[in-house]
Amino acid sequence: MSDKPTSDRHIAPQRKAEDTGLDGLLRPQYLADFTGQDRLKANLSILIEAAKKRSEPLDHVLFHGPPGLGKTTLAHVVANEMNVNIRITAGPAIERAGDLAAILTNLRAGDILFIDEVHRLGRAVEEILYPAMEDFMLDIVVGKGPGAKNVRLKLPKFTVIGATTRLALLTAPLRTRFGALYRMDFYDLAAIETIVLRGARILDVPIDPEGATEIALRSRGTPRVALRLLRRVRDYAQVRADGAITLVTAVAALDLLEIDNLGLDELDRRVLRAIIQKFGGGPVGLDTIGASISEESDTIMDVVEPYLLQLGFLERTARGRVATPHAYAHLGIVAPEQPNQPSLFDGNPE
Ligand SMILES: Nc1ncnc2c1ncn2[C@@H]1O[C@H](COP(=O)(O)OP(=O)(O)OP(=O)(O)O)[C@@H](O)[C@H]1O
Ligand SMILES: [Mg+2]
Repeated sequence: MSDKPTSDRHIAPQRKAEDTGLDGLLRPQYLADFTGQDRLKANLSILIEAAKKRSEPLDHVLFHGPPGLGKTTLAHVVANEMNVNIRITAGPAIERAGDLAAILTNLRAGDILFIDEVHRLGRAVEEILYPAMEDFMLDIVVGKGPGAKNVRLKLPKFTVIGATTRLALLTAPLRTRFGALYRMDFYDLAAIETIVLRGARILDVPIDPEGATEIALRSRGTPRVALRLLRRVRDYAQVRADGAITLVTAVAALDLLEIDNLGLDELDRRVLRAIIQKFGGGPVGLDTIGASISEESDTIMDVVEPYLLQLGFLERTARGRVATPHAYAHLGIVAPEQPNQPSLFDGNPE
């Protein structure tokens, strides 16, 4: 499989692979067991109820936001709530227009086509998708050379659910074809605690509330991280203690994993230290940071940066990334007299 041209390496595969396996169990199936994102859920349930009342397929939906917050999970939840089939694919997996045509012609009315990493669709593929989403028409060329002709096929009414960590990379025409766009934000502490407790119940591991809070505090507002830390703390509790997760076992396990009290791991700290110690606090470009610590800039942008921005440790300026005084303080590094000010022309360089 290593010669497969559609490698997923740009999307931090090491952080996604862990969702498989136990994931079937841990992944919420219906809106009612999906914790957090309350406003999004309220809007989504109206969208779903309205479509059901009218006996229509759902409008096309786009979920965007940082990795691990539940975009894929919600796509499955929507399919369950609508009680329809879901076909799963991803932008890089659809290489040729013909691949998409094959997928589309196999859909049945009401089906959901889930396209992960929808910002990575090729141009030719997107052009097939536009009329398919808008008018449920498939325009294909049959044959080659002078005998080739354009054929228009009618498609059943289906729903595209797109997911992306990079809304800015979506082309405008594609974006406008989604009738509902939902931004996923980091979860609050209470929601993550609930997710940890639910996970522990499903994994059948005893946990006390303080242990759950400690895991939640270090989960950077991200369910995927929370469930990963839960599994690691469970390992620790089983090997070094009596199997129950308490505040003491959680703190010991997480300290041993070098997850600090804000949820930063070694990669986060390496990024911050690079900016501060190698580039005078910035501004410095993302690719330069990536090269200096041998890490892909896509991983830094998708996985590391959103949380550091949210913590106020990092600022994005037109000239690059800048470490803020909070970042210096957290790492215990004395900030220079006059830290670099972010540029006034603060664009969105994404
Ligand atoms: N609200 C939630 N409640 C409980 N578990 C959740 C919730 N949201 C996500 N999860 C769990 O977190 C993990 C990651 O979720 P998911 O795969 O849906 O994220 P994603 O946004 O699609 O990430 P990526 O951008 O990397 O594809 C899954 O194991 C899922 O079961
Ligand atoms: Mg996903």
